Amino acid sequence: MDYETILPLEELPVGGLRRVTVKGRPVLLVRREDGVFATAVRCPHMGLPLDKGELTPEGELRCKFHHARFDPKDGHVCLWANFPPGIQLMNVLRKPRPLETYPVRIEDGHIQVALS
Ligand code: FES
Repeated sequence: MDYETILPLEELPVGGLRRVTVKGRPVLLVRREDGVFATAVRCPHMGLPLDKGELTPEGELRCKFHHARFDPKDGHVCLWANFPPGIQLMNVLRKPRPLETYPVRIEDGHIQVALS
């Protein structure tokens, strides 16, 4: 697997999100107490940018736009789009889809990401 060095670990504090570019593609880095994770930037719901969202106290990545939540570790859906009220009607057409994630490792104090 071909890892690319992105930035020093110390530049991404616990609870932080950082949009970066890896091999010309946008990637979102997320740091929790249990590690650093890399995901797609575009939300699987409607493709809006997840770097505008936040990490919840539970460690879930919450999209700012319709409040879908994902586990950045494996991308599974914790809660699908539910805001504003009534958007659930659209969920018949936009069924829950996981967030894409990418391998991450820490080498010599730097975050490295591998894209396939
Ligand atoms: S675009 Fe993220 S929840 Fe709708």
